[in-house]
Amino acid sequence: METLLEYPRLSEHLLADVAVIGGGMAGLLAAFSLHRAGLRVVLLEENRLAGGATGRCTARLSAQHGLFCERLIRDFGEHLARQYVMAQLHAVKQYHDLCAALRVDCDWQERTSRVCAAPNGPDLSREYAAAVLLGAPVELQPVKGLPFPVREAVCFTHQASFEPLPLFAALLNDLTVYEHSPVQDVRGHWVRCDGGVVEARHIVVATRYPLLERWGLYHLRLRQEQVHLLELAGAPKLDGWYLDADTRGWSLQQRGDRLILSGGLHRSVNNPGDRYERLRAQARLWFPEARETRAWSSQDCVTMDGVPYIGRCGAATPFLHVAAGFGRWGLTNSMVAATLLTAEILGTHYPYAEVFSPGRFFPSASIEAMMEGALYAVRGKKRRLYTAAERETSAIPRGGAAIVRHHGRQYGVYRDEQDRLYAVSPVCPHRGCALEWNADDKTWDCPCHGSRFDYTGRRLDSPARAALRQTDARLL
Ligand SMILES: Cc1cc2nc3c(=O)[nH]c(=O)nc-3n(C[C@H](O)[C@H](O)[C@H](O)COP(=O)(O)OP(=O)(O)OC[C@H]3O[C@@H](n4cnc5c(N)ncnc54)[C@H](O)[C@@H]3O)c2cc1C
Ligand code: FES
Repeated sequence: METLLEYPRLSEHLLADVAVIGGGMAGLLAAFSLHRAGLRVVLLEENRLAGGATGRCTARLSAQHGLFCERLIRDFGEHLARQYVMAQLHAVKQYHDLCAALRVDCDWQERTSRVCAAPNGPDLSREYAAAVLLGAPVELQPVKGLPFPVREAVCFTHQASFEPLPLFAALLNDLTVYEHSPVQDVRGHWVRCDGGVVEARHIVVATRYPLLERWGLYHLRLRQEQVHLLELAGAPKLDGWYLDADTRGWSLQQRGDRLILSGGLHRSVNNPGDRYERLRAQARLWFPEARETRAWSSQDCVTMDGVPYIGRCGAATPFLHVAAGFGRWGLTNSMVAATLLTAEILGTHYPYAEVFSPGRFFPSASIEAMMEGALYAVRGKKRRLYTAAERETSAIPRGGAAIVRHHGRQYGVYRDEQDRLYAVSPVCPHRGCALEWNADDKTWDCPCHGSRFDYTGRRLDSPARAALRQTDARLL
């Protein structure tokens, strides 16, 4: 397994043409592309490179993003829908060419992507026709070889799978990179970390959840969704990957000699605490001979209309560029972002830019998601004000957690398997929503915009920037 070099913390005042914030695939590809164009680039990462969603993804390079062609044509019109599909197809080819040019040994495999309908599932013929219209390499085929019945699938041929880390390592050559350097603020052209500043003509924000909420109202326009996954050894080999037509359904993917089974995307709210168990039950039923080798979860940002925001943050800040809202399809979209933002900064033409414009608003595609987001925000705040505490500390079982009230204040209390208690403030430091316990991952999750914290209060995921306040649980 490839390991990445460790880079220093920023501790000086640097001048650059471009400061790129965020060391995931989007930030790294943008930094590489801008550096290759002859610009002085500084890449800033708050933890370790590839430690975010990029390091937890399942590495499908696919232009097929669920059942999406018909929806795109309906919401955006044929012209912009075609831009989206062409940008994704082009991105798969760009990865291929880049890996070949840099001679990266990344286990590149050409694959077929399939979105499947159960015997009583949706009719896929309209999605197939829409994909044909948009110029995708698509076929409508029966599916065999799965341990459950599937009527047919919309298939994109000539997609690929690869191992991202070797490419990551190759792209880092010659780049100026700082790790362990969380960006605290951006003021004009100054990007401020605790130990230093980068003063740059342009700033690219590739932090997955944008750091710069005040310019783009991203907390109103993005939501985070989680997915839980199991890795299985000893299951029969599948060719390529298979997704349920329902985005909340299953997905199966062959990765090397392992099979990845995942559940659908879901918002982090009312977590039932049985997500891994449900996957395990599914795995036992479909692949009784297989053995579980890993279980994990991750989350990604989704925009209101399902298409990422890539481009200038706003007319008043033409030097600020953002790449966010990749859904579960951030690898091709990271390449799109790197290419689009490089063209934007150099003043050259990228033919598929319009559909990704962060300033767009398509009411028919966005209203439902907007209302849902507002509902979660109101509910989160209301619960904090009015909900009574659930339990006494003594009633919390080992491995469990609850909200406990003590002297009029609420605490989020977790009891570990060794009977130790951990108490934290159950209020999200981002915008004050009430946190919910996620029994699967043993984290405190925010239903409003998806910040996550471990049971000691350590921040695991943005947009919150601070940890949770801890309290000595013996005092409760
Ligand atoms: C389970 C799962 C499977 C997936 N599988 C696929 C797939 O098969 N194919 C596909 O195309 N996509 C897939 N995706 C989506 C894809 O992984 C992501 O969209 C993509 O990796 C996001 O890249 P990124 O660079 O935007 O974000 P990240 O990789 O999360 O990088 C953002 C970086 O910014 C850093 N950062 C945040 N705040 C700051 C700050 N203030 N200062 C400095 N740095 C900061 C973070 O530490 C992080 O390293 C999957 C996602 C999930 C959750
Ligand atoms: S209030 Fe925004 S993430 Fe919690």
